[in-house]
Amino acid sequence: MNLLALAKAAALAAGRLQREYFDRPIEVRHKGEIDLVTEVDLKSEALIVDLLSASKIPVLGEEKAKTEPSGRYWLVDPLDGTTNYAHRFPWFAPSIALMEDKRPVLGVVYHVMLDELFWAERGKGAFLNGKALKVSRVSSLKDAVLATGFPYGIHEQPDKVVGAFRDFLIKAQGVRRAGAAALDLAYVACGRFDGFWEPLLKPWDTAAGILLVEEAGGRVTNYLGEAYDPFQNHILASNGLIHEEMVPITRKYVP
Ligand code: IPD
Ligand code: CA
Ligand code: CA
Repeated sequence: MNLLALAKAAALAAGRLQREYFDRPIEVRHKGEIDLVTEVDLKSEALIVDLLSASKIPVLGEEKAKTEPSGRYWLVDPLDGTTNYAHRFPWFAPSIALMEDKRPVLGVVYHVMLDELFWAERGKGAFLNGKALKVSRVSSLKDAVLATGFPYGIHEQPDKVVGAFRDFLIKAQGVRRAGAAALDLAYVACGRFDGFWEPLLKPWDTAAGILLVEEAGGRVTNYLGEAYDPFQNHILASNGLIHEEMVPITRKYVP
């Protein structure tokens, strides 16, 4: 079975569903104080799990997550950017990774409203709608456009998040906070962003995206500049060229 083709088909199918419901009134529930889940998150996850089941590989999905399967498994964020979706902000993506030994070996992220399908396989490069991706060549923070996100727990502990945001704001050319970590990483991979940092993400937020960045020639570490895996709670991704300029800032704000 072609697992890449299967993951792409699942992401595209979830995307079609998300487009179909985008203008309709939908049910939205609170998972936490500001953490939402919509009926479309749940429907998307059910659809993806159903399609991926053809591979007989277990699936760990955000909305139904229990324990991490051992060995090889699919790691799925059915709709990254739920707050955006619930507010009709057209910036969200299903994100699907195939994990082996806690590392992604295949990743697909689908920017639904732009119909942009990103994918990567370890050792085989990263692609956007079939075109090979390369990270940007910006070599200095002052010329860089960066992305970040704010965790759902920000109300309890805003200081470190705001501190890093402030430091990068005054050093970089610009900072964006669009609200979907999987797309932030895909955008680093295709060179639209030069770097990205965020604390307290979950493994399904970053697993597919980090493979995109690495396969496009970028670098992914934790806030200390050490090797990152999606089970850590701070991530720094960049085109590689500005990484050493970013680490002294992120290392001050390890959550
Ligand atoms: C969220 C998005 C957002 C990030 C949050 C994530 P969700 O995922 O990726 O950009 O800032 O920390 O939890 O809940 O929309 O799937
Ligand atoms: Ca997410
Ligand atoms: Ca989600």
